[in-house]
Amino acid sequence: MADAVVAFGLQKLWELLIRESNRLKAVQEQATELQNDLRRLKSFVKDAEATNKSKSERVKTCVQEIAEIVYDAEDIIESFLVNQERLGIKKHLKRVSCITFAHQKFSSQIRGISRRISKVIDNMETFGVREIIDKVEEEDTLQERVIGEMRQSFPSVSESSLVGVEPSVEELVGHLVEENGVQVVSICGMGGIGKTTLARQVFHHEMVRRRFNGFAWVFVSQECRQKHVWRGILQSLKPKNDEQRIVEMTVSGLQDELFKLLETQRCLIVLDDVWSSAAWELIKPAFPHRSGSKILLTSRNESVGLHPDLRCIIFRPRFLTHDDSWEVFRKIALIERNDIEFEVDDLTEEIQQMLKHCGGLPLAVKTLGGLLTTKRTASEWRKVHNNIRSQIAGEIGENSGLIINVITLSYEDLPSHLKHCFLYLAHFPEDHEIQTETLFNYWVAEGIVMVSSEESTIVDVAEDYLEELVKRSMVLVGKRNIVTSRIESCRLHDVVREVCLFKAKEESFMQVFNAQSSVLDATSTRRVAVHLVDDDENEPVIFQQRKIQNTKARALLYITRDFHPWILSTQSFRGLESLRVLDLFGAQFRRRKLPKSIGKLIHLRYLSLKETNLYVLPSSLGNLELLVYLDLEIYETMVHIPNVLKKMKKLRYLMLPDELSDKTKLELGGLVKLETLKNFSLKHSSVKDLTSMTKLRTLWICCASDNLAEGVLPLSLGASLKHLEELMLYNKRNSQVQHAKINAGALVSGFQRLNQLRLDIKIDKLPNELQFPSRITSLSLSSCGLSEDPMPVLEKLHSLKIVSLELNAFAGRKIVCSKAGFPKLHTLEFSILDNLEEWIVEEESMPYLCHVEINDCRKLKSLPDGLRYITGLEEVRVGWMENAFKDKLIQGGEDYFKIQHVSYVVFHNCGDE
Ligand SMILES: Nc1ncnc2c1ncn2[C@@H]1O[C@H](COP(=O)(O)OP(=O)(O)OP(=O)(O)O)[C@@H](O)[C@H]1O
Ligand SMILES: [Mg+2]
Repeated sequence: MADAVVAFGLQKLWELLIRESNRLKAVQEQATELQNDLRRLKSFVKDAEATNKSKSERVKTCVQEIAEIVYDAEDIIESFLVNQERLGIKKHLKRVSCITFAHQKFSSQIRGISRRISKVIDNMETFGVREIIDKVEEEDTLQERVIGEMRQSFPSVSESSLVGVEPSVEELVGHLVEENGVQVVSICGMGGIGKTTLARQVFHHEMVRRRFNGFAWVFVSQECRQKHVWRGILQSLKPKNDEQRIVEMTVSGLQDELFKLLETQRCLIVLDDVWSSAAWELIKPAFPHRSGSKILLTSRNESVGLHPDLRCIIFRPRFLTHDDSWEVFRKIALIERNDIEFEVDDLTEEIQQMLKHCGGLPLAVKTLGGLLTTKRTASEWRKVHNNIRSQIAGEIGENSGLIINVITLSYEDLPSHLKHCFLYLAHFPEDHEIQTETLFNYWVAEGIVMVSSEESTIVDVAEDYLEELVKRSMVLVGKRNIVTSRIESCRLHDVVREVCLFKAKEESFMQVFNAQSSVLDATSTRRVAVHLVDDDENEPVIFQQRKIQNTKARALLYITRDFHPWILSTQSFRGLESLRVLDLFGAQFRRRKLPKSIGKLIHLRYLSLKETNLYVLPSSLGNLELLVYLDLEIYETMVHIPNVLKKMKKLRYLMLPDELSDKTKLELGGLVKLETLKNFSLKHSSVKDLTSMTKLRTLWICCASDNLAEGVLPLSLGASLKHLEELMLYNKRNSQVQHAKINAGALVSGFQRLNQLRLDIKIDKLPNELQFPSRITSLSLSSCGLSEDPMPVLEKLHSLKIVSLELNAFAGRKIVCSKAGFPKLHTLEFSILDNLEEWIVEEESMPYLCHVEINDCRKLKSLPDGLRYITGLEEVRVGWMENAFKDKLIQGGEDYFKIQHVSYVVFHNCGDE
């Protein structure tokens, strides 16, 4: 049922009406009427929310229709607002008639919406949907309870099929038995990962039994009731004959007695399955802040258990390794099976694939094993293998949806805006590493994330949402940035992804097609993802845009695996007028021109033309005044952009092409909301434009310019761009244009918040240690041509974690990293330093260095002796160096002692490789 979409959509529409009430004044009557209708709808949806597992087709149809109405109403209002803005600019006479027409059109459209709302409400009443809802509600709670009970945990179940739990149990026992001040140990992770199982092992561990003298195990669950929990604990701690007295106690009596008991005795309390911080808040007043008692809790949400006065440790169980999964599976499905009618070895590959799909989730492996205990023949096993997706999700088959139910509980527990965020992940293919920058901007473009405060950026707001999903174990972190600790990429666990797809389908949230689909039946959905999977590496996929005819679609995403280019065959974007998000990453256009009709997509917030082959953009692009995100990252071609970007005043992200045509001139001074501006070119825009972009966090400037006077960056830039965190200055290589001279020291010293700096330009002198902003964490120097060793300055920058010197950034022959230098450095890279012969590392330099990379420094004689003192060094990569250099470093070589402690040493492209 479309619950998440409807509840969220209604709220969003409501807020739109309130926010824009000023601009809707001219059509106030209709706007108020719509507001009243919405109020009625809201109250109905509230009722319907309780029945989200309803099987009633009538309820489903009604809610689905409400979702459609909400989308349509939003389109109508937003179109009206956009057109009104335009009319404001037109000449007087024509304007009056246009305005009258626009108002009439709006009125009649809103009347249409009102009629649909009345009809849907009538339907509910005449079909007696309310009664149906009430009835289903009862059944539902019953069903939920059954699932709850099925999953309910008891402390005393023995488990013979457990694999690989010992290290985790030992660690947990350690936290509990040591006198370390820790009072709460919280086991957190996704449903089915084995939290309860671990807690149970710990609860019965002999060291734990010796350490404590009272034990209680309480199953809390989603419906946490304070009294029940406290009563349960007290009953376990007190003798049996107190039972009746405890049952009769009041809440405050329970709290007092429990508090005293825990204070004076050493008790271990297990709270299994605590869902929310709110539940934890309810239970914790009975626990004294200082005592010999401890709490072990399990939760899917990492925020649970944290308390300012109680010391808490979070423990995250790991997924099973492939070998462990196999072992669990073997114990359940293979051992003591004399009924199997085939050689198991013949199906090894199928089993491996099925296990891969379980992604190391114990619950999934066990369920799969359990399912196969009932299958005897090879063909039965193959059938399970062929349908592994639905078998795991439990849509069909005999495991009656166990896994999907378990994970779905986590989904249902999300607030509606997070449900939306989560459903958005259904657009991406399996195993896809999702780039958070892209994802965040999709969310913003669809209005799921609103950036309202002046100070916060898209990333600030959206990141909180993603972190919340991670804490709730719904999303896995792919990569975090070393410098900022921000999540750069994320992905879904296979099993969670099945739930995501299942829910997206149930909510009619989006549809996925592949390039080969002949006719896309996409008319019924608001979001379309086209997965361009390339079977033949050499032949790019061709996609006919006209296959998609959907005037209501809000998002159209083309997603390629491994970023292969593909051919988009289109003359026009007509028929897609409601789009908010259009991602054309990698599209190759036959005539290398973007069709003029792009200008029809007036609702567009997100447009990516990244890595397309376009060289001319039409001036109709300027119609896209609502764009928040525009990616024009195009390489290997000179792109002409008409001077229309200045109209996109809402832009927060703008990436310009690598090279612009000579006649391109862009006035960008009005884009004051920009947070990210990449490839700003001094040759094609005025440097003065930058000073008004006070919200910038990321700025890349191409400093090459025809006119030296124009190209000079004002030293005061830092004073205007107070929030800038990332700055890159670069020049075009091999180009004829003159290169601006830059006083790097004076310039960078102005940027107080800068943490990442890349200078890919010639500079006479490196900024000194006082000129570098104090937060600088990552520094990359390239083509600077410095004659003095930069290390004496850089090693004094106490925040530096990453340093890279490339392309003769340093032109001298000797580099020295001295004692006590680089206290935080994590990564160091030298690439193409043609004159470098000697590199010295003194003892106690770079104590935290983890990664070293040397590429193409052909004169460098050897790696420094001093590397052997750096005990934490994990990885050394050596590329494009002479054979002699490599031979010294491999086992038996004279320099081997320098890196023998390093766990990962890689040589590539060395000598005659
Ligand atoms: N290391 C393991 N080896 C084998 N089976 C395991 C292992 N860990 C967990 N299991 C099994 O996986 C299933 C799920 O485990 P458990 O109930 O502990 O998960 P959970 O994290 O508590 O889930 P929920 O969040 O739903 O409460 C159980 O059947 C359990 O026996
Ligand atoms: Mg559990």
